[in-house]
Amino acid sequence: MLEKRRVAIFGAGYIGLVTGACLAQLGHDVVVRDIQQERIDILRNGGVPIYEPGLEELIAANADRLTFTLDAGEAVRDSDIVYVCVDTPPTPSGDADLSRIWQVISTLHDASHLAAVVVKSTVPVGTGARVRAAMDRAGLQHVGYASNPEFTAEGAAVRDFLHPDRVVIGADDPEIAKLIAALHDGVDGPVVEMDIASAEMVKLAANALLATKISFANEIATICEATGADVEHVVHAVGLDHRLGPHYMKPGVGWGGSCFPKDSRALRAMASNSGYSFQLLSSVIEVNDLQPRRAIQRLKDELGGLADRTIALLGLAFKPGTDDVREAPSTILASRLLADGATVRCWDPLAPPLDTAPWPSTTRHDTPLEAMTGADAVIIVTEWPQLRDADWDQAAAAMARPLIFDGRNLLDPKQMGALGFTYMSVGRSTVRGA
Ligand code: UGA
Repeated sequence: MLEKRRVAIFGAGYIGLVTGACLAQLGHDVVVRDIQQERIDILRNGGVPIYEPGLEELIAANADRLTFTLDAGEAVRDSDIVYVCVDTPPTPSGDADLSRIWQVISTLHDASHLAAVVVKSTVPVGTGARVRAAMDRAGLQHVGYASNPEFTAEGAAVRDFLHPDRVVIGADDPEIAKLIAALHDGVDGPVVEMDIASAEMVKLAANALLATKISFANEIATICEATGADVEHVVHAVGLDHRLGPHYMKPGVGWGGSCFPKDSRALRAMASNSGYSFQLLSSVIEVNDLQPRRAIQRLKDELGGLADRTIALLGLAFKPGTDDVREAPSTILASRLLADGATVRCWDPLAPPLDTAPWPSTTRHDTPLEAMTGADAVIIVTEWPQLRDADWDQAAAAMARPLIFDGRNLLDPKQMGALGFTYMSVGRSTVRGA
């Protein structure tokens, strides 16, 4: 039998909303608090301010167990457990900015009735100990503390929450660990308990290793290009080794998003701050920085320069299934193309209108075909299914020059060659159509 809890979620972003909706789905009463009036208004009116598959339906289905508020006091007053799901962006030194976490903690003065405060935001190791000390200073010694890092990937966050590979709970008090484990009753995955610092480290280590696997695949791809091997065959066969696995081995124009770039830099900064140079991770980051630049250089060589060329960028989001363009490779690609004098025409099915550089200097188009019309080359940046299924025959006819740089190895080289394209991709030989 589920022990029903009242949970206050601080932060109505990707993590907070998914956590709140999923805990409500498990049967708990949830209040989500955010400081942005607009977000709360949208949520109160039945909308969802971000795109995440299944989230809108989950929020609607659990409307009787989910409320939204701007008022921190109200959220805390009616709850047993507070979940901190605010963002922790990088500071100029590469450390995580914890100011939003401290803001939440500062609202907990009338919180002596709480059973526990849980931090889900990604934080440097040692943050939990500092939060614990701050809670003690505020007279909340008897309120428990736990770290419960999130491992949900955007685009699959609801599924990842309800069917996780593991739920990690870091707590110094076994009773608090038990309480947070019980909150996850109904979740289809193992619970792993440990101390707070280790739980904080699991999150950073997992993201760093995932990023390492991708950068490794991208390095192998570069060597494949130089030697004539096909990286897709290579990573497929390498991944069949059960010790290595097939995941996060897909080469491309690089990893982006709100997590890998930020978390890898934060872990590197954390190591540097203690005088240790995490050289492997620095290389992983550098490989990723180079990946879109190498793509542009290859295109430049092929076109004999980019000045006055028109390039279609297909896909702006950092991966398909999301509207998120944070630290997306598309941003570097567009900036580099513009810097070399190209005209950039963009398409993305979900990304909202973008008003920060470089986007105002590009044009946005409703369909891939419209973006490609008259272009000297197209770069596939995000592996949207619409691009796999696009009418490439028609595209070849509409383009000024049939040239594709497939930054996600989405298309079949032979087929593209047969359609008359010069088809470049990552870690595979360039195919030149008739
Ligand atoms: C990532 C992790 O996968 C989650 O487990 C974690 O909880 C989350 O960060 C977080 O820290 O919040 P996310 O950033 O949503 O999730 O996206 P991923 O699906 O992991 O993709 C990250 C980037 O890697 C994308 O740009 C994607 O295109 C790229 N990627 C992924 C590759 O280039 N190759 C691959 O084989 C896999």
